[in-house]
Amino acid sequence: MARVGILTSGGDCPGLNAVIRSVVRRGERRWGDQLFGFYDGWIGVMEGRYQTLDIETMRGYLTRGGTMLGTSREHPWRTEEGREKAHRTLKRLGLDALVLIGGEGSLATAYRAHTEGLISVVGVPKTIDNDIPCTEQSFGFDTAVAIATEAIDRLHTTAESHDRVMVVEVMGRHVGHIATWAGIAGGATVTLVPEYPFDIGVVAEIVRKRHNRGRFASIVVVAEGARPVAGLGMEIKKPEIDRFGHQRLGGVGLVVANELERRTGFETRVTVLGHVQRGGSPSAYDRVLSSRYGVAAIDAVHEGGLGEMVALQKGLITRVPLGAVVGSIKSIDEGLWDVANTLFEARLTD
Ligand code: F6P
Repeated sequence: MARVGILTSGGDCPGLNAVIRSVVRRGERRWGDQLFGFYDGWIGVMEGRYQTLDIETMRGYLTRGGTMLGTSREHPWRTEEGREKAHRTLKRLGLDALVLIGGEGSLATAYRAHTEGLISVVGVPKTIDNDIPCTEQSFGFDTAVAIATEAIDRLHTTAESHDRVMVVEVMGRHVGHIATWAGIAGGATVTLVPEYPFDIGVVAEIVRKRHNRGRFASIVVVAEGARPVAGLGMEIKKPEIDRFGHQRLGGVGLVVANELERRTGFETRVTVLGHVQRGGSPSAYDRVLSSRYGVAAIDAVHEGGLGEMVALQKGLITRVPLGAVVGSIKSIDEGLWDVANTLFEARLTD
């Protein structure tokens, strides 16, 4: 039996509640653990705000989006007293370990907490962006791709009716996993991703050629972090930075749409999907993946997995050291990018 804390950190994501539920069910049934859920990420640890969790408290949460615990980007190392306050709460509760469910920034705090001896941690990879290394998939990604794909399908029919170009801006700050998957699944004309800066002149040419061949209703999928090649006459405003040093992205789709309309003369509209991609119920796949991650995370607490992150590799759940995860980002697979560019109307990169 162990006393285990759980917190959700960073942006929310479909499947968070399913992970918490799975940790609690496995922890209580298999290990006889006592489980504590901290409110609002690390803030709850610093302020001593938490609730005890058991199977009963988790009823009905499998299908719910968001996080029943609340989340934040705050962490104990931002102020001098933060770490001290977190230490006091963890000591008072006598916790043996913490399951931290978070993205790249949050997993870095997990690693720090573990290596600095604040608390032993097991990480669970969360983000719709799917950019966490050492795991094939983070939960939430499948749901976001399904939402973006459905939006593209819907935009196709209205675009065809009006013979318009539709630009769809999807999330993806450092990487274009959502854009590439949804672009392939939705039959986009072109997809623009952060990994490969784009030349708007080439994009306009692709759209123009397609229309000249009698095709219409082009769909251009743009990841929010996509940027043009420097010096080609298209500027994207520098994003605002929030108090956590986090860039507030969004808006590249509109710049692309305006520029495409100006260069091609075709009526162009933009749809920004934004947080719709993060809200609502997780897909069936994400419910299963979240449940698998939850079981593996609490088992890791008891089976020598402290300081590790649960991960999906070759379809199986395994564990990797947190140290191997922090500090890098998983880009889109070159093979998949090749597939995408083969299917799209023209190659954007060689
Ligand atoms: O990291 C996940 C993510 O959804 C990104 O795709 C997006 O850029 C960011 O979070 C948005 O964060 P916020 O909700 O703080 O605006």
